[in-house]
Amino acid sequence: MLSAKSAEVVEATLPAVGGAIGDITPLFYQKMFAAHPELLRDLFNRGNQANGSQRQALAGSIAAFASALIAHPDQRPDAMLARIAHKHVSVGISNDQYRIVHEHLFAAIVEVLGEAVTPEVAAAWDEVYWLMANALIAVEDRLRAETAAAQGGDPADLWRPYTVVARYQETDDVTTYLVRPADGGPVPPSRPGQYVSVRAELPDGAHQIRQYSLSGNPDGALQFTVKRAAAAAEGDPAGEISNHLHDHLHTGDVVELAPPLGDLTLADHAGAEAGPVLLASAGIGNTPMTAMLAHLAGTGSARRVISVHGDRDQLSHAFRADLGQLTAKLPNATAHVFYERPLGDWPQERTGLVDLSTVDIPAGTTAYLCGPLPFLRSVRSQLLTAGVPASAIHYEVFGPDLWLGQDA
Ligand SMILES: Cc1cc2nc3c(=O)[nH]c(=O)nc-3n(C[C@H](O)[C@H](O)[C@H](O)COP(=O)(O)OP(=O)(O)OC[C@H]3O[C@@H](n4cnc5c(N)ncnc54)[C@H](O)[C@@H]3O)c2cc1C
Ligand code: HEM
Repeated sequence: MLSAKSAEVVEATLPAVGGAIGDITPLFYQKMFAAHPELLRDLFNRGNQANGSQRQALAGSIAAFASALIAHPDQRPDAMLARIAHKHVSVGISNDQYRIVHEHLFAAIVEVLGEAVTPEVAAAWDEVYWLMANALIAVEDRLRAETAAAQGGDPADLWRPYTVVARYQETDDVTTYLVRPADGGPVPPSRPGQYVSVRAELPDGAHQIRQYSLSGNPDGALQFTVKRAAAAAEGDPAGEISNHLHDHLHTGDVVELAPPLGDLTLADHAGAEAGPVLLASAGIGNTPMTAMLAHLAGTGSARRVISVHGDRDQLSHAFRADLGQLTAKLPNATAHVFYERPLGDWPQERTGLVDLSTVDIPAGTTAYLCGPLPFLRSVRSQLLTAGVPASAIHYEVFGPDLWLGQDA
């Protein structure tokens, strides 16, 4: 893996590089987007760039990869690569773009760290970058080929037009779309927990891409659900794509989607098939959980299934009826719903944030979590306290994953 000489240099310089990441990453993106404005307009999520949330993810993951290489020199930390590779394929990045990222990332490193970047240091970090890039490229090539084979297309044809065949209002600000390939071809295969990328053209001509988890598995269609993203703070713009879809995507319209991707799926965790499963979500984080529950109900699963959901109140709770109906279809399932500000009569022990102390969590439970970061942190630590091992806790984040490579 990493040569012994480079490992030594990387270990010695990791604190300096890690400590300067906050300065390196904005400069890297600034340089890259100055040279390639089309990447910001049509590939990267410009909302995440504006609010800063994506920046840390890329450079942070390289530092995490380097730390993992040093801690276990004979293993390549492949697990952390899968999530990135699925995201990369889903937005349509190409292998030659790794050179562009390399050029601007290393220019930013040299500018921030100055003379500390001796030729030896540059060569060692170069080795880390290309080890990671080549590993990602290999996984991405395989994924592209598998996806293309499954939907009978060319690996280069990522985007496909779909017609909206139905649109349902789940709550005031949550809408579900049912879509079918516009060419009448077959619906691509998907697994519960996966997402599609939606590419939409905005009024300024930019093409922006966002991911939406599949929220069910209807016959002959894909189903995804979008919540209007409000402005993060006063004066900030409201979310671009979610509001654009709500306002402009109606039944009969055509939308471009990439095929279902994503490495967090119900069936993927070997040995878990027979054991108890806990699905925990907050707010719109229940989209992948609803698809997983629908899959379990649709396949007549006898597994013990524990659904836990937290929301503001009954009116903001999308898929409230589905949760009840799907749970009732399963022979061994329970649902526990917590509302922060319940309307009308609601049990006191289910009022407030999700609290697992009153939920029975059997030994051998595999947990799937999706929701905002504070929810994920809280539920993960409650599960650890309840004796669920870290390796049995899987999660999806609806944004750049800043947990990548950490013990999560
Ligand atoms: C794997 C995955 C699955 C997902 N599944 C779902 C799902 O099932 N349903 C769902 O609704 N969402 C889902 N999401 C989230 C979704 O992809 C989008 O992130 C979400 O819809 C917001 O996108 P947007 O374009 O509306 O907002 P954006 O325009 O991206 O804005 C996001 C935030 O950034 C802020 N912002 C934007 N521009 C600026 C600026 N100039 N200055 C300061 N702040 C700014 C906005 O105020 C907003 O709060 C998922 C995400 C991932 C990664
Ligand atoms: C070794 C090189 C690279 C690393 C380590 C890396 C790392 C990452 C990480 C960690 C994420 C977030 C994943 C998630 O949270 O789910 C991400 C997303 C992304 N990456 Fe990369 N990446 C690399 C190369 C590239 C290249 C070459 C491109 C294309 C120019 C690219 C474009 C993107 C895009 C568009 C996203 C989605 C996020 C957004 O839209 O802002 N990456 N990458």
